[in-house]
Formats: sequence, C-alpha cells, structure tokens
Amino acid sequence: MSIIQPKKLLSVPSGSLRIPGLPPIANAANQSILFSLVIPTYLEAGNINTIVSTLSSLLDESIPGDYELVVVDDNSPDGTWEVALSMMAEFPQLRVMRRENERGLSSAVIRGWQSARGRVLGVIDGDLQHPPHILLQLLNAIRTNDLAVASRHVEGGGVSSWSFIRRFLSRGAQMLGLIILPRVIGRVSDPMSGYFMVRRSCVEDIIFNPIGYKILLEVLGRGKVNKIAEIGYVFCERQDGESKVSWKHYLDYIRHLLRLRFSAEAIEQFSQRWGFPIGRFIRFGLVGLSGVFVDMTILYLLSDPNTLALPLTRSKIIAGEIAIFNNFLWNDAWTFADVAMQQKGLKQRLKRFFKFNLICLAGLIINVLVLNLVFNFVFANRYVANLIAIAVATVWNFWVNLKLSWRVTQVK
Ligand code: GDD
Ligand code: MN
Repeated sequence: MSIIQPKKLLSVPSGSLRIPGLPPIANAANQSILFSLVIPTYLEAGNINTIVSTLSSLLDESIPGDYELVVVDDNSPDGTWEVALSMMAEFPQLRVMRRENERGLSSAVIRGWQSARGRVLGVIDGDLQHPPHILLQLLNAIRTNDLAVASRHVEGGGVSSWSFIRRFLSRGAQMLGLIILPRVIGRVSDPMSGYFMVRRSCVEDIIFNPIGYKILLEVLGRGKVNKIAEIGYVFCERQDGESKVSWKHYLDYIRHLLRLRFSAEAIEQFSQRWGFPIGRFIRFGLVGLSGVFVDMTILYLLSDPNTLALPLTRSKIIAGEIAIFNNFLWNDAWTFADVAMQQKGLKQRLKRFFKFNLICLAGLIINVLVLNLVFNFVFANRYVANLIAIAVATVWNFWVNLKLSWRVTQVK
C-alpha cells in the first residue's frame, strides 16, 4: 500500500437525523450513484479488511463505479477507522467517517446515510456475520421494491449455532414487538435484521429518532415503505471480535418500540389509515376521566346513605350535568381547541355548549338507563354500575359530538 496523500475522513453530519434528498440531476459536480452501503463498526479492526475487500470485489463486478462503501466508526480504541482509512488508496469507492461525539449503532447508520450519495441506501454488519453474497440478491430485489431485507426467518434463512437462550430471547423480542407495534413488526419476518437496503426516496426528509440497535424498526416505523422483499440468509458465527449486545440493548429495544408506538406521527398515521381521530379520542377520554371524578364525587355527596341520601336518579342527573359542564370547558379548550379557534365568539361558544349538552343529555339518559339496569339486575354496587354506564355513554358522546358539536369538516 502506497501513501500518496493524506486520506480525508468524511465530516460527521450534525443536527437532527434527517436524510437529505439528492441534488437535482443537472448538478454534475456531485452526481448521485446507485448504491451506498453503510458499514457501522465498533472494535472491528480485525474484520474491516476482509469485509471491505469482499464487498468491493462483489460490487465491482455487478455495479462497477456505481456504489460507495461508507464505514462509520465510533472512534474504536482498536483503531478500526484508521485501518479503514489506510485502505482507501486501494479501494476508491470506500469512504470513512469517524464519530467522536456520538455513539450507537442506529444513529451511526443514519449519519452514514446522511452523507451518502446513493439512490439506494443499505446497511451491513462489519463483522462478517452477514454473508456478503446476499447483497447481490438484495440489489436485485430493490429494483422492484421499496425495501429489501435479509431475513433469518424465510426460506434459505437461519442461524448457525445459536444457543436455545439466544433463540428464545430473539423470538421473545419479536413477539413483544408484535404486541406493542403490530403494524410495523408484523410487516417482515425478521424485524431484528440489520442487513437491508431501502430506496432513498422512502426515507429522505424524515426526522429519525432511533434508540439502540434496531435500525430497521425505525425505517419501517417512520419511513414511507410500501413494497418489501425478503431474502433468506444464514447469520454466520463471528470470526473475530465479539458482539456488543448487552442487557441494555434489550431495554433500548423496548423503549424504541414504545417511542415509535406513541410518536405523534404514528398516532396521526393510524388516524388517517383507520379514519378514526385517535389523538382526539385520547384527549376526549382524559377529559371524560376528569368528568368521572366530578360525577362520582357529586353522586357520593348527594346519594350516599352516609351523606344526603337523596334518590339515586335525581342525584345522578345533577352529578351528570355538572360533569357535562366540566367536560365542555376542557374539550373546548383542549380536545377540540383547533376547531374552537375557527369559531370564536361567545355566541358560537354557547351554541357548542348547547349542542354538547343536548348530546350529553341523551348520553345521560343512556347513562341513567344503563346504571339502573346494571344496578338492579346485574351488579348491586352503585359505583361499578355507574362506571359501566359511563363507559357506554362515553362512546356515544364522542361520536356524536365529533360529528355535530365540533365539526371538523370545515371549509377553510
Ligand atoms: N458505529 C458503531 N457504533 N457500530 C456499532 C456499534 C456502535 O455503537 N455497536 C455495534 N456496532 C457494529 C458492530 O461493529 C458490527 O459491525 C455491527 O454493528 C453489529 O454489531 P454486533 O455487536 O456484532 O451485533 P450482533 O451480531 O450481536 O447483532 C446483530 O443482530 C442482528 C440479528 O439479530 C445486529 O447488529 C443485526 O445487524 C443483526 O442482523
Ligand atoms: Mn455481530
């Protein structure tokens, strides 16, 4: 290897984890290429040489000059980045990033993609556990798909010699994912895979926010991915170095699932897909909960044998009406604040309150009926009966109010 000139490191993008779009084709100076493959590394000095040369010869044969390899190393104490840097003379498609201020597999991958020039963005482990030749099948599949993922759980896939414990943990993690995030985890057979490629257009201009190891979750959870191809592969044994997976990564995984589950966009996407305004319903539900508290307290003060001991129905009507007033104030200021903003003025507000009251009055009738039915025929506890009655009335209240009181279908 000859030292011709000092090889330059890629600068590390800063700020949010957002992958920019490619410059327009007219700009010949920094023309795009077909494929950018990120190789995240930490303590892989013993592997980097083999992986880079194997991948280079594979890609030189199939897409010569139309790819780049981007090593993203987190300042490994074993000098992985330096080894990679020293290979650049021999492998002109190789680029190297050394991160000193950030750490973590997922963010390393995105930082690499941020400085990539490819129309297709890929990732592969740097430790040779992902068989390089699968790459060609993935490249073939991405031509007609948005995402191509190497999977251990389709035909041709597997693990070489994992212990029962590791298999169990891996499948357990997948099952947990299916419970927390079914619409994301359920889309692929191997959501834990760190060997895949995605069209840039599906992930550009999205702000990513991953935790831990599982970058595919982030891409499936936030990206605009429609068609997916899966290619079977066998997860090989490590020849050199060791896995960095620890218990912390299992916790990170769960936190990541929850973050995706409850991200504002996820809620928005869900709402649009199902035509159900879930964010609003959650707010409506929370307001309803405050109403339950008001209702229950007043019901107790008025009807309990130890307090005023007024008749149940009469007490319930008073308690319900006060709760309705409470709920209206909160819903108008919070749940439907955006709609209320468009219809300002006392008159409009009174009109909404009137409609809300009318609908909730109907809800209250349902409430009283259910309360009496349950109390007299099913369960002779006034509070449990009241809770059931409130639940039934809440569904009614939300739907009809959504359609009538705070009409969302407004002409702008
Ligand atoms: N830059 C950077 N920063 N790279 C890292 C870091 C980090 O903090 N942690 C790990 N890596 C690199 C490793 O050097 C390796 O190239 C790759 O990421 C995978 O890390 P391993 O520690 O070898 O992971 P593994 O083999 O246990 O886990 C793999 O499990 C999946 C199958 O369940 C995942 O990494 C997936 O890629 C794999 O498909
Ligand atoms: Mn590994």
